[in-house]
Amino acid sequence: MAFFTHQIRRGFSSSIIKNGVIKNVTIIGGGQMGAGIAQVAASTGHTVTLVDTSEDILKKSRKGIEGSLKRVVKKKFADKPEAGEEFIQNVLQNVSISTDAGASVQAADLLLEAIVENLKVKQDLFGHLDELAPANTIFASNTSSLPITDIAGSTSRLDRFGGLHFFNPVPMMKLVEVVGTSTTSQETFDSLLNFSKALGKTPVSCKDTPGFIVNRLLVPYMMEALRLHERGHGSKEDIDIAMKLGAGYPMGPFELCDYVGLDTVKFIIDGWSAKDPHNPLFASSELLNKRRVLQVQVMCRG
Ligand code: CAA
Repeated sequence: MAFFTHQIRRGFSSSIIKNGVIKNVTIIGGGQMGAGIAQVAASTGHTVTLVDTSEDILKKSRKGIEGSLKRVVKKKFADKPEAGEEFIQNVLQNVSISTDAGASVQAADLLLEAIVENLKVKQDLFGHLDELAPANTIFASNTSSLPITDIAGSTSRLDRFGGLHFFNPVPMMKLVEVVGTSTTSQETFDSLLNFSKALGKTPVSCKDTPGFIVNRLLVPYMMEALRLHERGHGSKEDIDIAMKLGAGYPMGPFELCDYVGLDTVKFIIDGWSAKDPHNPLFASSELLNKRRVLQVQVMCRG
């Protein structure tokens, strides 16, 4: 696996993080979240290296970033298309792509992981990169539901490890949850908080508890919408319309389930339910188990 091909060079340090200010960011994972974070970091003057296992994936990530930037400049530079084009080129210049995580982390002030939600895979990745990264590089995970403490446990930098949880679509969603474990140092936590602000986001401080703040509220809400429908209390369309028009949510719960991804929602709820099987908030849904929530939702937009 390309993440792990680099030779161990413990002690080699070229990250020069000064006063805890994060400038150089290595992001592992070129999916929707990783690419979105890379875009926002590059747009706010950070130097970004986006890492994934293949050139093909990274080319797609770059294309996605370019497409999203076009949407951003359409609004931001409505009257100045040339300035908009220049902005896009400048942002893209701030993003390098690589399949060599070990090499990419050498100059990183921050290593941010946004890969598959699998504890073992995350632990292996961080454990390996802990051997390669400069001692002062801060490590963070964008996990939506796994304990940061468990991920950090695979490294020897428990004080320089935290959570940075972004929301989809990253360029539009203003929040970042900054998660500190019992061993995250205040200095690290402040760096992550200030980095979030430097991205133009609003950070909130979270404890390392399941789902932090947003998902702990949002996922049980989506699950109850599914169970409400399963109990015959409303059609999917009506439930979505009700929450959009009655509660002012931009998307109804079914549409949001689709948007977040059914596998992701199922992964989160199954993980919590395994740890707390009698909690009714974590009860399963047949619809979700069969991954049959959506499609219909496209019809009830707007
Ligand atoms: N990049 C850049 N711009 C984007 C974009 C993207 N990826 N997605 C949307 N936009 C822009 C559009 O260009 C558009 O701009 P204008 O207003 O200038 O036209 C604007 O956002 C609105 O987009 P649309 O008209 O296409 O659609 P919309 O009005 O429905 O907004 C939305 C889209 C911002 C996604 C909105 O529906 C929304 O906020 N939905 C809720 C999303 C949400 O709850 N996300 C959190 C999910 S939970 C999570 O992520 C955590 C987890 O761990 C699971």
